[in-house]
Amino acid sequence: MSTRICSVSDVEPDSAIRVDIEGHRLAVVRCGDDVYVIGDRCTHADISLSEGEVDCSEGTIECWKHGSEFRLDNGEPETLPATKPVPTYAVTVDGDDVYVELSVESENA
Ligand code: FES
Repeated sequence: MSTRICSVSDVEPDSAIRVDIEGHRLAVVRCGDDVYVIGDRCTHADISLSEGEVDCSEGTIECWKHGSEFRLDNGEPETLPATKPVPTYAVTVDGDDVYVELSVESENA
């Protein structure tokens, strides 16, 4: 079942916001009209990835604490020190509304 988590317009282009919903802590990332939703908690330590820098040309978000970059499409870390992926969520955009499948997240949740 899809859950509405925010509006596209809540998220500035090339940036991210944190959304806490139904026990999930999400980083909602916007690149142009594309929206990605990944787990907000860095897998190296409890840092909010949504506070990090988004690089839409590379398709990554960087943890501000130690600099690990995570892929927006599959949650995999591209650089150390993080070695485990963050969960990713299936996103649907309907008009200005962003929905995710909270129950069908990747196996890394
Ligand atoms: S807390 Fe994120 S890379 Fe260390």
